[in-house]
Amino acid sequence: MKRLWDKDRPIDELILKYTAGNDFHLDERLIKYDIKSSIAHINMLKEMNLVKKDDCKKISEALKIIGKEHEKGEWKIELNQEDGHTALENHLVEKLGSLGGYIHLGRSRNDQVLAALRLYLKDISSIINEELINLVSKINILIDEQGEIEIPGYTHTQRGMPSSVKLWAEGYIAEFLDNAKSINNVISRADKNPLGSAAGYGTPGLNIDRDLTTKKLGFKSTHEPVTAVQLSRGKAEAEMIFELTMILGDLAKLASDIILFYSYEFSFLEIKKNITTGSSIMPQKNNPDVFELVRSAESIGIGALMEVLSISSKLISGYHRDLQRIKMPLFRSIDITLDSIKIMSHSITNISFKKEKIKLSDDMYTTEQANKLSLEKEIPFRDAYNIIAKKINEE
Ligand code: ARG
Repeated sequence: MKRLWDKDRPIDELILKYTAGNDFHLDERLIKYDIKSSIAHINMLKEMNLVKKDDCKKISEALKIIGKEHEKGEWKIELNQEDGHTALENHLVEKLGSLGGYIHLGRSRNDQVLAALRLYLKDISSIINEELINLVSKINILIDEQGEIEIPGYTHTQRGMPSSVKLWAEGYIAEFLDNAKSINNVISRADKNPLGSAAGYGTPGLNIDRDLTTKKLGFKSTHEPVTAVQLSRGKAEAEMIFELTMILGDLAKLASDIILFYSYEFSFLEIKKNITTGSSIMPQKNNPDVFELVRSAESIGIGALMEVLSISSKLISGYHRDLQRIKMPLFRSIDITLDSIKIMSHSITNISFKKEKIKLSDDMYTTEQANKLSLEKEIPFRDAYNIIAKKINEE
């Protein structure tokens, strides 16, 4: 038997290939979490006297071994197994015989996938946080070494007021730290235990205790009622992608600044040659491709967010196979965000501002002059502004 639902008829191969899609591949990253939640589930069944103590021990141990084997790359989910949940149960049955089938008492792949996804989201959030903190430390190195260099502050891409590398970079630091904090909002939505909701309507005829798996897995609460669970699929995911897109947005602005400052016409900064790329036709080029690709990563996030929101929109309540498609944009946006944060951390200390090339012009001090005039003459700012503006006009 290959799939959990296989009866006595073979499945059309094309249907299998289309419906499984790349799910069997995507589920690879969820196996670890599926095993964790399976162990919690079987122990809950034991505590509720639904599975014998000995059997629970055998199943838990086999699950741990299967997890280690997976970690070592000794097995991978196969297309004909459809998904990771099926692969897991099949491996259990291979090891323990029909006893392995107890694992599916009181659960469905519908609550199983959500439990694994939520545990994964909680883990990945702290990894994203760590990477943001690392990026901030790299920006701080730039500030320590070059912070005092004055640069123009722009509005409308026009010179506005004096700024500095420090002031410019500190803005990004503040936003990256804020983004790191906001990721925690995702956790609050993902911190509810879906296990025991099974296919979406509970486990008739079984006296299970959902709060037990909540405690075992470290979820903050049990997701109640059972009918809320499938309604919520895609929400924590969308919230996560939204937050990732905020990060990608700040990275894109930082990349855009660097690209502009690096242009020959600006020449505010130099990028170390070994992080630039060349042209196949123009021998003189040292292109800032890495920053251009970081800049465009934001669009991937925005696209993924649209994908997830629209996949789950307008469905009726309950589980639908449509929801499987949420995993791809979720994983894609997580991967591109982590890669982009890491490459920015790697690249940001490879830029050096060229103090001698950056000139601040007198007109950039006119706001300061108007402010001072307003204070000195005790006149409204608008009057001071008009006096300075008139002076500029006459020059
Ligand atoms: N791969 C599926 C998903 O991500 C798992 C749940 C399958 N459930 C089902 N009833 N076919 O949604």
